[in-house]
Order: sequence, then structure tokens, then C-alpha cells
Amino acid sequence: MTRLDIRTRSQPGHYRIEIGAGALQKLGPLARQALNGTTRRVIIISNSTVYRLFGPHTAKSLTTSGFGALHWLMGDGERFKSLRTIERLLIFLNRSGLERGDAIVALGGGVVGDLAGFAAAVHLRGIRLIQVPTTLLAQIDSSVGGKTGINLPDGKNAVGAFHQPSLVVTDLETLVTLPPRELVAGLCETVKQGAVSSRKLFAETMSCLALLRSKKETLVSGRFENLIASHCAFKASIVSGDEREDLERVDSRSRRILNFGHTIAHALESLTSYRYFRHGEAVGYGILVAADLSNKIGLLGRGDLSSLNEAVRLCGRLPKADFLEPEAVIRLIGRDKKSVGGSVKWILLERIGRPRIVDEKEIPRRLLLRSLRAALSHEGVRG
Ligand code: NAD
Ligand code: GLY
Repeated sequence: MTRLDIRTRSQPGHYRIEIGAGALQKLGPLARQALNGTTRRVIIISNSTVYRLFGPHTAKSLTTSGFGALHWLMGDGERFKSLRTIERLLIFLNRSGLERGDAIVALGGGVVGDLAGFAAAVHLRGIRLIQVPTTLLAQIDSSVGGKTGINLPDGKNAVGAFHQPSLVVTDLETLVTLPPRELVAGLCETVKQGAVSSRKLFAETMSCLALLRSKKETLVSGRFENLIASHCAFKASIVSGDEREDLERVDSRSRRILNFGHTIAHALESLTSYRYFRHGEAVGYGILVAADLSNKIGLLGRGDLSSLNEAVRLCGRLPKADFLEPEAVIRLIGRDKKSVGGSVKWILLERIGRPRIVDEKEIPRRLLLRSLRAALSHEGVRG
């Protein structure tokens, strides 16, 4: 097991991230340590796919440690990260009489984690939250850093709150049942995070991708445990310096750099009505565009560009995107303007490990079009 102590500014003290194969069996004692004596009850929020796999173990570990444990299941999928679901959940929490000292356990991927986290942020103005992430994306990204929220019909993550967890328990064994596309999506997010972190973490990520690809390594291994821990530590280090994503900040340690690849990813997801790409797959294409553009405007060298292309290829097959019209993608990037002070801010790279926030005015449209065309028809991403 690997343990990370994460300091936060907005909430007193710190929280722990516990990572390891079989960590779920230790959830009860770890929760008891993290929550202290005031917690009598916990509610496990999950969906039926995940609860069927891991729910009974989770509940048993918690009840053995003296917690009263109930569960509440939401629908499976991004469309259930909605106002309607949160309304039903908040009514359930209220009727169950969950007290201020009690806690929510979010058992699932990023969808469950974001919605359950938001419920924890607003029920009785905030109760404690334990994240038990079961997708790779959630283990390296969404369970760390305190962003919670739901979608509106026209706005992804349009409503939310910052609410740091009291504990994160990451069990590598949960990844074994992950559908292949979810794994590819999570691996693309490791490339995204590796690219903006450091050459060292990027190299570690690349070597894990290559070993997974050649089947010389599995997800349930010491090497992978170290990789997930390094990603969590990097994300937490960025978040601790910019917990609420200050929009004034444009330096290479601002939280916004974690959105590398996301300008294009959001446009691709929106263009296909959130039904075609998994989020991480769209991020895979977003990385290819952002890396190529970084090179075309004279920031990123060819060697790093090739490494990034190779890293995305190693993640596995991405759904075809050559039928998408680059002009239509650009129109959707434009629609994002209002949310960033009238101008799109791109996260580009000077080199691997050195992100730079670039205003759209510095990006010639013809270069963006060329990068988009190249990425959307990229042979390399066929796996
Ligand atoms: P997801 O939560 O929809 O999970 C993907 C699928 O895998 C679902 O069908 C789920 O039921 C299934 N699943 C989960 N764990 C499983 C397991 N161990 N075995 C088998 N099946 C399993 O998708 P995701 O990619 O984890 O999360 C995407 C969400 O995360 C998006 O809503 C995104 O906005 C959000 N997100 C949030 C943050 C943040 O900082 N809060 C960061 C990145 C992404
Ligand atoms: N996933 C980006 C962030 O947490 O800020």
C-alpha cells in the first residue's frame, strides 16, 4: 500500500490517499481513522454496475468497523450526473436523517464521484466525503482535488462546488473489471497529466503504457501502484497551490494546466452530443491537436511532439474521428468563449513538463485547422 498525505488550504488539516491492491478491504478501519468518533452512519453512493461488483465488500468493511451503512444507487452514465438525480439524492439523504458528522462514500468512476461529492458539499451545508474511485480516470484525476458537480442540459459541469474529501481509497483490483474503452480513456488521461507534469512522470507513464501494451505488466502491480501514486501526488501539488482555479493565473503551476487537451476534447464531445467519445478518448485527440499546434507555433520541439503522439498511440484504439468537420470543431471552441473572459485560453506545451497558457489571439486559425485535420485523421491512433 502507498499512502499520500495531502494538505489542503480550504479545509483544516489534511486527507490521505491510500493506494494498493485489496485496499477496499481496509476501507472500514481507514474510514474510522479519518472520520473520528462522531460518525455513526455512512451512505454509499454508487450505480448498479459498480455496486454489484464491489458494493457488498464495501458495506461489509464499513459495518465491521462499527458504521451503520446504507446504499443509494444512481443510473449508470454521464446523463445521470444531473439536476434530477441530485434532487432525488438530496431528498433521500434528508429523509434518512444523515447528520452533520456522518459521511458519504462515493463508490464508482468520475460520474458517481462528482455527483456524490456535490451532495456531500451541499447536504446540511457540507458533510464528509470518502472517495473510492473505481475507474483509472477517477483514480488519477477526479477523486483528487475536490471538484464536484453536475451537468445542466446545456452545460457540462455547469453547477458544482469545491469540496475536499476526508479520505480517498484506491484499490487497483477494481481496475480488472474495467471495460476496455474505459481503460483506454483513463490511459489517455495519464498522458495528459504526464505531459504537463515533468519529464520524469511522463517517462514513467510511457514505460507503463508500453509494458501494458506488450502485456509484460498488469494493472495490479507495484509499478502501476507507483504510477497512480505519482499522478495523484502531482495533481495534489498543483491543486494545493491553486485550489479554486484562479482565473487570473496564467503561470505553469496554475490549476488550469490540468485541462491540457480539453479545449478540443470538450468541442469533440459537444459536437457528437456526448454519445460517441468517452471523455478520455476525446482528450486523446485533444492532446494530439494541442501538441501539434504547440509545435506549429514554434513552442514544442519535434522530439517531444513524436513522444506525445507515441504515448497516445500506446493508450490503445480511439474511435474514428475523420468524419468530423474541423470547421465545426472550431465553431464549438468559439462557443466556449464566455466562460473564460471572452477569449479562449489554450493550454499548450513549451516542452514536456512545461505547459504554457496561450491566448487564442496568438494562434493563427490556419495552423489550428491544419493541426485539427492531421489529428482527426491520425493513423497513429488506430492502435
Ligand atoms: P464513469 O464514471 O461514467 O465510469 C465509466 C463506466 O465504467 C461506467 O459505466 C461505470 O459504471 C463503469 N465502471 C466504473 N468502475 C468500474 C469497474 N471497476 N469495473 C467495471 N465497470 C466500472 O466515467 P469516468 O471516466 O470514470 O468519469 C468521467 C466523469 O468524471 C465525467 O463526468 C467528468 O466530468 C468527470 N471528471 C471529474 C473530474 C474532477 O476533477 N472532479 C476530473 C476529470 C473528470
Ligand atoms: N480535472 C481538472 C481539475 O481537477 O482541475
